[in-house]
Amino acid sequence: MSRGTSRRGKEKFKIRVEFPDYTGDQVEPAADNTYMLPDVGEEATINYNGEEVTINVNMLNDIRKLGFGNYGSVMLAEVQNHPEIKMAVKRLGLIPSTNNLADYTATTDLKTIRAVGSCNFPHVIRFYAGLIDKKESQVVICMEACDTSMEKFYTTMHKMKELKHLDLLLKRMINHIVDALQFLKSKGILHRDVKPSNILVKHDPVIFKICDFGISGQLTNSVAHTMMKGTQVYLAPERIDASQAPEGYGIRSDMWALGLSTLEIATGQHPFAKMNALGIMSAIMTWLPEPPTNLSTELQQLIVWLLRIKQVERPATYDEIQASPAMKSLPAEITNEETEMVKNVIANIPIIPDDY
Ligand SMILES: Nc1ncnc2c1ncn2[C@@H]1O[C@H](COP(=O)(O)OP(=O)(O)OP(=O)(O)O)[C@@H](O)[C@H]1O
Ligand SMILES: [Mg+2]
Repeated sequence: MSRGTSRRGKEKFKIRVEFPDYTGDQVEPAADNTYMLPDVGEEATINYNGEEVTINVNMLNDIRKLGFGNYGSVMLAEVQNHPEIKMAVKRLGLIPSTNNLADYTATTDLKTIRAVGSCNFPHVIRFYAGLIDKKESQVVICMEACDTSMEKFYTTMHKMKELKHLDLLLKRMINHIVDALQFLKSKGILHRDVKPSNILVKHDPVIFKICDFGISGQLTNSVAHTMMKGTQVYLAPERIDASQAPEGYGIRSDMWALGLSTLEIATGQHPFAKMNALGIMSAIMTWLPEPPTNLSTELQQLIVWLLRIKQVERPATYDEIQASPAMKSLPAEITNEETEMVKNVIANIPIIPDDY
C-alpha cells in the first residue's frame, strides 16, 4: 500500500499533477520522470520559530495520524534530530503528468500556501515547506500542526453534549475565520473551499485557523467528488446556477460556505446531509435556513445573513460581518469558558488508529 494514499478497504483518489513552467522557458520532461514542480525539490530549508533547518522526506518521523481527505493522509511528524520541530505533513499522491491544464491541483495548492502561509498571519495555517518524495511519488506539504479540525471537533462536541458555550465558540470561530478570509482577499485570494474540515483549532490559547486555501485547480475535482457523496456540499447557489452570478465567484460565495459550516457545527450535521445531489441543487435555490434556537438571536441573524440565496443580500464586505451585532457581542479576549470547552472536547476526540 502506498503511504498516505489509501484508506482501509478503499482506494483513494490519486491526483494528477502538472508542472507548469513559470519561468517562460520550455522545460523538457526529465528522462527519469522526475516531477518538475518549480522550487519544490527533495529538500528544503525551513524556518521554525527562528531556527533554520534543512529537511528532506527521510527526516520526517510520523508521530500519529491527524486525518485524511480525498487525496491522501495528514500526519503529525517530527524532524529527525529536532524533536522540538513538530509539523503536519500532508501527502498528495502523484500520477504522471498529462499536460492537462485542469489538473493543477498540487501546484496551485503549493503556490498559494507558500504565498500566504509564510506571512505569519495568526488565522492562516503556516507553511514550512513543500517537498517531493520520489520513492512514494508524492508531493509532501509541511505545515503548522493544529490540535484538530472543526469537523472532528463538532462530532465529539455533540456526542458529549458539550454545548453550554457553543454560541461564544461559534462567534469566536467566525471572528477568526473572517479575519483570515479578509487577509486572503487583501492578497487577491478567494478561499473557495471553506468547510469544517478546513477550519483547524488549537486550544492553548484557543485559536481558529483556515487551511487549504485558494485551491481553485482542485475545484472541479473536489466538487465532483462531494456531489457524488451527495452530502457535504458547500457551494453557494450562484456556483450551482452560474446565471445568477454573471460576475463569477466572489467573497460572498465564501461567506455562504462559512454560514453553512457554522450551521453544520451548531447542529452536528450538514443541513443537506440526507439529500442526494439533485435534491440539494433544487433545495438550495429556495432554502430558508432555520438556525437552532439555542443560539443567540444575533448569531442566528448573522447565519441567516450569510446564507441569503441572492448573493447581493449577503454582507458586501468582511468589515460588515465584523461590525454585526453578533461580532460586537464577542468579548475581545478569549474567555476561560471557551478555553475549558475547547480543551475538554479536544481531550475526548478519538485517536485515529495507525492502520486506519
Ligand atoms: N495542519 C493540520 N493540523 C492538524 N490537522 C490537520 C491539518 N491539516 C489537516 N488536518 C486534518 O487532516 C484532515 C484531512 O485534511 P485534508 O485537507 O487532506 O482533507 P479534507 O479537508 O478533510 O478534505 P479534502 O480532501 O476535500 O481537502 C483534516 O480534516 C484535518 O482533520
Ligand atoms: Mg482540507
